[in-house]
Amino acid sequence: MEEMQPGSTRRSFLRNVGATGGAGVMFATMGALGLAPDAAAAARHEPDFTAPRTGDFTLRGKAAAKVVVIGGGIAGLASAYELGKAGYDCTVLEARERTGGRNFTVRGGDTTVDLNGHRQTARFSKGQYMNAGPGRIAQWMITLDYCRELGVPIEVFTNTNASAYLYNEQAGMKTPTRYRTAKADVYGYVSELLAKATDRGALDKELTADDRERLQSFLKSFGDLGADRAYTGSERRGYLTDPGAAGTPGEELGSPAAVSEVFASHVGRYFSFEFGYDQAMLMFQPVGGMDRIPAALTRAIGERRIRTGAAVTDLRNTAHGVTVTYTQGGRRHRVDADYCVAALPPNILAKTSHNLGPAVQSALEACKPSSAGKIGLEYRTRWWETEHRIYGGITETDMDLDHIWYPSHGYHDDRGLLIGYYNTGAHADSYAALTPKEREARAVAQGVKIHGESYREHLSSSFSHHWRQTPYLEASWHSLAGGPDAPAFAPLNEPAGHVYFAGDWLSYLDAWQHGAFSSARKVVGSLHRRVLNA
Ligand code: ALA
Repeated sequence: MEEMQPGSTRRSFLRNVGATGGAGVMFATMGALGLAPDAAAAARHEPDFTAPRTGDFTLRGKAAAKVVVIGGGIAGLASAYELGKAGYDCTVLEARERTGGRNFTVRGGDTTVDLNGHRQTARFSKGQYMNAGPGRIAQWMITLDYCRELGVPIEVFTNTNASAYLYNEQAGMKTPTRYRTAKADVYGYVSELLAKATDRGALDKELTADDRERLQSFLKSFGDLGADRAYTGSERRGYLTDPGAAGTPGEELGSPAAVSEVFASHVGRYFSFEFGYDQAMLMFQPVGGMDRIPAALTRAIGERRIRTGAAVTDLRNTAHGVTVTYTQGGRRHRVDADYCVAALPPNILAKTSHNLGPAVQSALEACKPSSAGKIGLEYRTRWWETEHRIYGGITETDMDLDHIWYPSHGYHDDRGLLIGYYNTGAHADSYAALTPKEREARAVAQGVKIHGESYREHLSSSFSHHWRQTPYLEASWHSLAGGPDAPAFAPLNEPAGHVYFAGDWLSYLDAWQHGAFSSARKVVGSLHRRVLNA
């Protein structure tokens, strides 16, 4: 069987197999790929990585080397952590005052100053927090393996919720609709159309009579169609009054809008999100905040090995190793080491003096930084639970706040914290240009359109964070045209002398901690092999 090419998705690979061999071949191939539900399939998701061990050096007459890691984000910390298992002498230089990089959990008392000079101190109550960076972890991601190994407890993060809202203002929606209602109507009408088209013979060339019967039976249940193949509404849309005891069957929401009105509302555009391999439920989060992960890594590496507030000013390959110059507390320092893992953002390294050569510099410059921002809104009551019966999940909108996240923890507490906007690209840039107070006012005014005045009245405090404007990061994630294996990035996928590059941006899961961990593991494996074979 042909090998999967880097960059081809599993889906397109399967589609190609299906196209040439038919469904029977497809099923057999699914088994071969580990997609069929057999017990062995789970093992294939285990990453192909063995951590370096001190025993690897036994009998080889070699010793662990000295490594300087630039950047105390997930990739840098994971590199130092894994190398440390074999006794490598690692020093981590982190420019900010805390480790974690974009994994940043904001709690009461935390202060930031962005590149526009906006200073904020979070006034969140004890126990309240916002994950300003990563907020969710899929079950297959190796991030969860690190949580297990490091003893970081996890809980479910609700990524989709039938009770959350959809609201497309530009499409003319006057009120938000619940996901469940939107899905019932879109699935219902699409099923009706396909069922009728099938009845009229539109699929006679593609399907046998048996196939058509099976399709009709599927559409009937998928769309909740009537005997005449029509969608006229369904209890799946929800209730005005919920069903209860005998004598109170509940009052259903009623009939759906006409088919063209449902399509014109564009609510269906959000449904495919939850099909994504990276976004499908169940998803998880660390209990107490995403920064429990870097905190645990920091402890495991040893705080004495990590220098914070240490901004690198020069990175130099030398004849036998590397020399890194940095400033800390206004003073210049220097570290000499055998190797360097450069785990800082490419856009920052591109602005740092180095002697890694023009090919590395061009590749770094080709990694384009993206924008994203979030605002945390703390409320004195959990009105979304009491007034809207929403327990976690995400509301989607076409306003420039993009997404509203309800907390997946602390249910029924007195207070709670929403992510009032999580936006990207131009939407994030337009919010970033405002003062924190203006951002709050804009986010709240938009939220009121969906949730009513409670969104304003119960607000206690807010804190907003924008990654493009964050010193020493200046990006939420990066865009690498053609992917990390495109020829333009080849100089970063191999060591430049004694310098290795690591980060989520050099993975197929950029903007995910999984990508940072994977990239770190790749670099650790390759550096360790080099030391063993030197
Ligand atoms: N991985 C990021 C998210 O899930 C982009 O929002």
